[in-house]
Amino acid sequence: MTYIQVTGGKKLYGDIEVQGSKNAVLPILAASVLHSGVTTIHHCPDISDVQCMIRILDSIGCNVKKEGSTVIVDASQLNNYRIPDEYVARMRSSIILLGPLLGRQHFVTISYPGGCTIGARPVDLHVKGLKRLNAEIIEANDLLTCMATKLLGSEIKLDFPSVGATENILLAAVLAEGTTIISNAAKEPEIEELCEFLICMGAKIEGVGTETIVIQGVDSLHDCEYTVKADRIVTGTYMAAVAATGGKVILRGAVETYLEEVIEVINRMGCITQSSPEGIVVTQKSKPKAYDLLRTRPYPGFPTDLQSPVMAALTIAKGNSILIENIFEARYKVVKDLVKMGANIEVEGKIAIIRGVASLHGASVKAHELRGGAALVIAGMIAKGTTDIHSIEYILRGYEDICRDLQTLGATINYIEET
Ligand code: UD1
Repeated sequence: MTYIQVTGGKKLYGDIEVQGSKNAVLPILAASVLHSGVTTIHHCPDISDVQCMIRILDSIGCNVKKEGSTVIVDASQLNNYRIPDEYVARMRSSIILLGPLLGRQHFVTISYPGGCTIGARPVDLHVKGLKRLNAEIIEANDLLTCMATKLLGSEIKLDFPSVGATENILLAAVLAEGTTIISNAAKEPEIEELCEFLICMGAKIEGVGTETIVIQGVDSLHDCEYTVKADRIVTGTYMAAVAATGGKVILRGAVETYLEEVIEVINRMGCITQSSPEGIVVTQKSKPKAYDLLRTRPYPGFPTDLQSPVMAALTIAKGNSILIENIFEARYKVVKDLVKMGANIEVEGKIAIIRGVASLHGASVKAHELRGGAALVIAGMIAKGTTDIHSIEYILRGYEDICRDLQTLGATINYIEET
């Protein structure tokens, strides 16, 4: 097994190109099956979740080609109604294929996505929404079987602005008969990107980026070409890294408008953030400042996916910080390993109190989930000595090459083959 070894103490300087967005490209790849033709998607990140989605598309009859960071999907020969269990077990977000496969072939079966390392993550809102579009859904023997003789547009008010449920309903509504109105929809930038992609394919959508999305069903779509934007969570991870280590970094391609709340938080931690035509420039001249109270919220609030990376930076802030995790109930798994590295963190339910310490020290630690893994990398870069991070398969799900990026910025970080 490979692990990551980081030796702390270096400030970060230089510039890197931010990879394409994981959370945008996954539903976009899923959306490609709506069209009996070819879609070309540029700036796809080379991460294991994208590889998994490509394998799923292959397994249901798509012809998928990868040329550098471009993925070309020909979905004209779909021939399978069942998403293979091995992929559902590996990637929970394979649930996002329900909507488009229902739309395209009116029948789909998927094993029930089980628990997840960051919380229970039920799919009740997906199921409720699709049923409102006239789908029949049978939940039995750990299987979700969805069918519809005809999907019919409807008004759907989500109980919570779930990202996945908004995407699934949106995807099913594109080829439904009539008009669908999703209210209390999630407003995450990835949904805006999905809408842009669908519109490029010929879908009729209004209210893009708002909490009310209106979809007018169409009979068919056409070939299209789309470029995925820079990943706002990867951008935010590297901003948190600079806030922690100090230095000056240019994040090329980063989309400032998607990061307003994150930039405010990073600035309050002592950084100066400027946007330029090239991307975002982050400068940190001091140790990070403590953050009195930071709450995760649905977009445009502070993203849950950046809670752990920011927590890692706050471990060495002068003073106490409080985090409240409002989205996923089990998202403090990284705390145990940060404490092992010398952090002083107390967790009670949704609340984490971080009492800043003078420094962390290297240790052998283990990633338990994607963003917690990235947080350990940041902790390793500010720790005295060497940190070994194991179970890096979680990190590879969302970061194309975190060692390459941080080496470019001057960090001492490497993949080590375990013998
Ligand atoms: C997506 C992102 C993930 C991000 C999250 C919140 C992808 C691939 N993943 O996950 O990185 O952290 O948004 O921004 O885009 N819920 C229900 N019932 C449902 C659906 C969700 O109770 O049917 C709950 C979840 O358990 C969770 C909350 O709603 O507590 C938010 O989940 P949701 O917005 O759906 O997140 P995901 O789409 O799973």
